[in-house]
Amino acid sequence: MLSQKLNNLGEKKFIDTSWDFRKEYTKSITHGYHTYPAMMIPQIARRLIRSYGKNANILLDPFMGSGTALLEGILHSQFKEVYGIDINPLALLISKVKITPIEPQQLWDEYHKLVKNYLSDKNEVSFKQKKIETPKFFNIDFWFKPEAIIDLTLIKNNIEKIKNKDIKNFFLIVFSETVRNVSNTRKREYKLYRLNPEALKKHNPKTIEEFRNKAKKNIYGMEEFIKEKYNCKVHILDEDTRYKTSLQDNSVDLIITSPPYGDSGTTVAYGQFSRLALQWLDYDKQTVSDIDKISLGGIPTKDLKNYLSSPTLKKTLNKISKIDPRRAKDVLSFYVDFDKCVEELHRVTKKGAFLCFVVGNRTVKGTQIPTDEIVLELFQAKNNYKHHNTFIRNIPHKRMPKLNSPTNITGNHAVTMNEEWIVILEKQ
Ligand SMILES: C[S@@+](CC[C@H](N)C(=O)[O-])C[C@H]1O[C@@H](n2cnc3c(N)ncnc32)[C@H](O)[C@@H]1O
Repeated sequence: MLSQKLNNLGEKKFIDTSWDFRKEYTKSITHGYHTYPAMMIPQIARRLIRSYGKNANILLDPFMGSGTALLEGILHSQFKEVYGIDINPLALLISKVKITPIEPQQLWDEYHKLVKNYLSDKNEVSFKQKKIETPKFFNIDFWFKPEAIIDLTLIKNNIEKIKNKDIKNFFLIVFSETVRNVSNTRKREYKLYRLNPEALKKHNPKTIEEFRNKAKKNIYGMEEFIKEKYNCKVHILDEDTRYKTSLQDNSVDLIITSPPYGDSGTTVAYGQFSRLALQWLDYDKQTVSDIDKISLGGIPTKDLKNYLSSPTLKKTLNKISKIDPRRAKDVLSFYVDFDKCVEELHRVTKKGAFLCFVVGNRTVKGTQIPTDEIVLELFQAKNNYKHHNTFIRNIPHKRMPKLNSPTNITGNHAVTMNEEWIVILEKQ
């Protein structure tokens, strides 16, 4: 199912629409537990596992995010072990909850208790003027209306009383999604933008309704998930893929991953996306503010000395730096960090392993950055990696910024990413 398009250089490219999975449901089982920027759709991970994981025992997603590949991995009984790595505590929590089976009746019981206790606490606050202590993090009043702050506090206090850690985490994820939905932020954005004054006036979130609806949906998801018996070991690693991880040398058979699209400053800021939820979940200020700094390309490189072994990157950077050397440095900083990950992935993969990268070729200053080719060149510079295939797909599902401003003039937008490249490598 190939369709033809022209890229911005007028060259032909072929989109394999069989990877689009247009109109397919992407929230089955526990996949829909929590929104996350640039989520992989389960159908892609599933197809990659079926095509390239036939004899694989160990699966790794080194940029796990909300755990899509991990969950698909454990649903395929062939894997003995499944690993996911991320630097974002919210990603770690979401992934953990998505793969932890809990008896649904226990969740229903706790859910009814939570709602009942909330209603009684709310009654005390509203009618008996009981004072409650609300969180004091920076700018809380800017991002939440007073009523939402009270409701979120009451819900959170009741979740804190849950003794069973897995059940507590389950409701913390529901809570985290509720925080996002009731906040004063524009909803289809991954950076923090406040609603405009007109929209803010009309914004009257029904916090407990949001929480109840999300909790019910997630329990229905658990009812599906609990039927899937799995016995592989799952390891969720709070580590940084740029450095030596706790994975053994030559151990991984299959990598399925979607790395960030570029530096967090100019693409998706995972830290900003997660900030409000993490503040409500009591993560310390430093941890929260560090996420975007330790994300790939979080710290711009000082100069443009390109020591990476990708001719395509070099050519692309030269083009961008003629227009804007500062942006060229932002771009380079991402690939410098990515190259450190390549080194680590090279260490942990077995000979014969397949490595599947879902990447976006974003446009900076009018120049499209062919990340698919750069990934290939960076790996091939390390060792003998065979290029199996690169599929180009349309992005009908993924929520992410499709627009950026090539000139930094507000409103002057260029479409940057409507497609993704799925690059398949085999370690020889
Ligand atoms: C595109 S998202 C992955 C989305 C995921 N496939 C999903 O379905 O939700 C990329 C992830 O890489 C993580 N990341 C960024 N820098 C990292 C690093 N140095 N080490 C590990 N993970 C990192 C981000 O926190 C983010 O969660």
